[in-house]
Amino acid sequence: MGKNKLKRFAENSTFPHVFQPRMEFPMPDHPLKGKWQTDFFKNSHPLTLELGCGRAEYTVGLSAIFPARNFIGIDWKGARIWRGAKTTLDNGQTNTAFLRIMIGTIAAFFSKEDQIKDLWITFPDPQPRDSREHKRLTSPEFLERYRSFADADCVVHLKTDSHPLYAYTLEVVRAQGLSVLAATDDLYASDLVDEVLSIKTTYEKIWLAQGDKICYLRFKLS
Ligand SMILES: C[S@@+](CC[C@H](N)C(=O)[O-])C[C@H]1O[C@@H](n2cnc3c(N)ncnc32)[C@H](O)[C@@H]1O
Repeated sequence: MGKNKLKRFAENSTFPHVFQPRMEFPMPDHPLKGKWQTDFFKNSHPLTLELGCGRAEYTVGLSAIFPARNFIGIDWKGARIWRGAKTTLDNGQTNTAFLRIMIGTIAAFFSKEDQIKDLWITFPDPQPRDSREHKRLTSPEFLERYRSFADADCVVHLKTDSHPLYAYTLEVVRAQGLSVLAATDDLYASDLVDEVLSIKTTYEKIWLAQGDKICYLRFKLS
């Protein structure tokens, strides 16, 4: 493992807003489940999660735009999370936290008490093989998992370069009778782009540099 990665792992464990629970199966409920507002953020603001956040450009960007909301970036890769954690710590963005977990265990970390109003899924691995459909972060299994803890009004935002994943997610959303709030297979040619949708992630910049079109889908989780 590279020296830089090791340094970042070590630094993560000193950051007050990075949580790296030991993986167990089944995953026990985390002490902050249902208590993120009262026991960590010390306010009653609604919560947004960024799933598969990588370097967490959405967590960093949204938390600066919306200081009266809380944000948690979630990813398995500690060296990536470090980037967002370091930036928000240096900037004093106290409305952020980071969780290093496998998203399959997410229900052990949140409950309806946490007032989760938005889920951002930013450039998730598309998992193109049929046999791995259950691993897609927008599969019926994952949506059901999110419903078990998210607010009844929760809105899901999917940004992806993968047109098959975009089409698949639209199909799932329609099959479940969920409301589509916005949908485009060419975001930057659409009139949807605003301050929020202009935030660009690390992977997004790579796809844009290749001339790829970006898809965006916003829908109600329930
Ligand atoms: C293609 S990258 C996108 C990263 C970032 N959102 C971006 O747009 O630059 C996908 C990210 O999702 C994370 N990821 C994928 N599946 C995951 C899972 N089941 N649990 C936690 N993280 C996951 C990976 O570690 C990776 O950082």
